[in-house]
Amino acid sequence: MNSRAKDNLIVALDVDSAIRALDLFAELRDVAGMFKIGSQLFTAAGPDVVRQIISQGGRIFLDLKFHDIPNTVAGAVLSSAAMTGVQLVNVHALGGKAMLEAAVQAISAGVPMGADRPRLLAVTILTSMDQKTMKEVGINGAPKLRVVKLAQLAKKVGVDGVVASVQEGRAIRKACGREFLIVTPGVRPKDSEVESKSEDQSRKATPTEAIRAGADFLVVGRPIIAAADPRAAAQAIVEEIAVAK
Ligand code: C5P
Repeated sequence: MNSRAKDNLIVALDVDSAIRALDLFAELRDVAGMFKIGSQLFTAAGPDVVRQIISQGGRIFLDLKFHDIPNTVAGAVLSSAAMTGVQLVNVHALGGKAMLEAAVQAISAGVPMGADRPRLLAVTILTSMDQKTMKEVGINGAPKLRVVKLAQLAKKVGVDGVVASVQEGRAIRKACGREFLIVTPGVRPKDSEVESKSEDQSRKATPTEAIRAGADFLVVGRPIIAAADPRAAAQAIVEEIAVAK
């Protein structure tokens, strides 16, 4: 990875209002390379908050994890790509090959003339799931095997990369090559304050482990946004990334 360490950090703006999101963006914009808007903020504040952050120079990962019939997903991806300045958009790989193909077509079709298209990511298996919870929903086998198979399917149909846990990073790199993007949530610095609070991430790792496993981007939410000093928490992660690279 040749980019600056801060470019590898994506802060998850998992908050419930545009005001709170814009405050966090203002506080963190020079210590993180990208900001993730997921279903919580998007449902509460709508596409306006995406446009506001982009108009202030922010880079956005629109994390809406589309999972529906191909035609509906194509429409949703098209609308996401039409928001100029969105860098990353994602869908669930478990939606299947036809759905992924529809998303790949739509990601280019939705971009206004002359603009760069966003990169399309596929979520493999949520990082909150482990072998037991996967089995409960009928997905058998080791998480790593399932994740690599889903990553290979996504790559085959032209998806640019995956969202996966650090544990699967190396295996995905090996199976899908250097150019395939790997975005890893479930990142927890060693001394993170959130460890003692509500914790739902099952497959988690430190920033150093994420970089060493080949991640291009680390998505970090609560260890930054729920910290007493979010800016200091983000800076500490960026410093750890810089050392690990
Ligand atoms: O607060 P925390 O650091 O756990 O936030 C992780 C973020 O990454 C959340 O916004 C969550 O929706 C997202 N995410 C994830 N696992 C995936 C895909 C996205 O945790 N597989």
